[in-house]
Amino acid sequence: MKKTELQTPAILVDLDILDYNIKRFQSLCNINGKQLWPMIKTHKSTEIVKMQEAAGSTGFVCGTLDECEGICELGVKNIMYAYPVASDVSIQRVIELAKKCHFIARIDNYDGAKMLNEAAKSAGVKVNYTIIIDCGFHRFGISPDKVDVFADSLKEFKALVLKGISTHPGNVYSAIKHEDIQQYIDQEKSAIKKAVDSLKAAGYTLELITSGSTPTFIGSVSDENINVFHPGNYVFNDNIQMSTNTAKESECALSVYATVISYPSDDVFICDAGAKCLGLDQGAHGNTAIKGYGYVKGHPELTVYSLSEEVAKFHIKGSTTLKVGDKVEIIPNHTCSSANLTSYLIGCRGDTVERLIEIDMRGNSTTKNFK
Ligand SMILES: Cc1ncc(COP(=O)(O)O)c(C=O)c1O
Repeated sequence: MKKTELQTPAILVDLDILDYNIKRFQSLCNINGKQLWPMIKTHKSTEIVKMQEAAGSTGFVCGTLDECEGICELGVKNIMYAYPVASDVSIQRVIELAKKCHFIARIDNYDGAKMLNEAAKSAGVKVNYTIIIDCGFHRFGISPDKVDVFADSLKEFKALVLKGISTHPGNVYSAIKHEDIQQYIDQEKSAIKKAVDSLKAAGYTLELITSGSTPTFIGSVSDENINVFHPGNYVFNDNIQMSTNTAKESECALSVYATVISYPSDDVFICDAGAKCLGLDQGAHGNTAIKGYGYVKGHPELTVYSLSEEVAKFHIKGSTTLKVGDKVEIIPNHTCSSANLTSYLIGCRGDTVERLIEIDMRGNSTTKNFK
């Protein structure tokens, strides 16, 4: 089947680019003697996990416990959950995971640690964890200069096993041009170094020193301290990565395929893909450099300036060759959001449709409570 025969809107993934992106980041880790544990919240897909594993990934970081459980069923050994847990249901799920795989929780506060320790003690299991370090994102994490005191405060929790430290330089998404990225890489490396030095001086052994984001990856992958990287978005890339030259258009694997369905005025087109495919994301974390809701491939004269649920409006600057009935491919601003809006991606190679890729780890497991 040819791409042009598809019903629109459709969320496409270019299988060659996906493969290239997966192998490129893996080989950079291999060359630098690092492990790649991709963050899978970007794709939430068993099939893409298998591609990453085949390329050499030795573990995975998850954005939800559903993702953790999904890949645990696949037999993945090293599974890290990115965020602290503090509800009974989540803690019980962590305990079950700790029984089945080399599971690593993340901790950044005493109260949550206490709750997890008590549950683990009652269940008779040990739960591995890393301490989250704040490298300037100011979301989760302990300041590197306080991490030794924090680690000491957790020593009383005998059912918890300290494996190392983790950070995520998400503040890099405030960068609006390529040159801005270096300062976030510097912050990431320096926060990690401070935390490592301080914990080692206090007598701790750190097996896992983990960090990662797509924009900082190239600059951090040779860092002397970090030994596990967990970028996520790199598999697809998107218009946000293009805005800082982190990725080229030819490295963007995911796009929304749409048909131009109307032409209400000389400088406006409407297509049949809206917010339910493209997502409403603009720049993440305060980035105001992105104009509109995606990049229309091959049509720099178009801005996706307005979204309804099922349709989008393009503004035309100057002239265009586009006409009603034409197909367009739009690179979403944030592909992690777009992939979460569909049950499957349509895998293409060039202009040929090859296979469906199921997005099978979406949502939350509320339904499990009713079984
Ligand atoms: C904790 C954590 N780790 C890793 C990532 C992956 O970052 P990126 O999507 O920039 O590759 C994210 C993304 O939000 C994250 O929240």
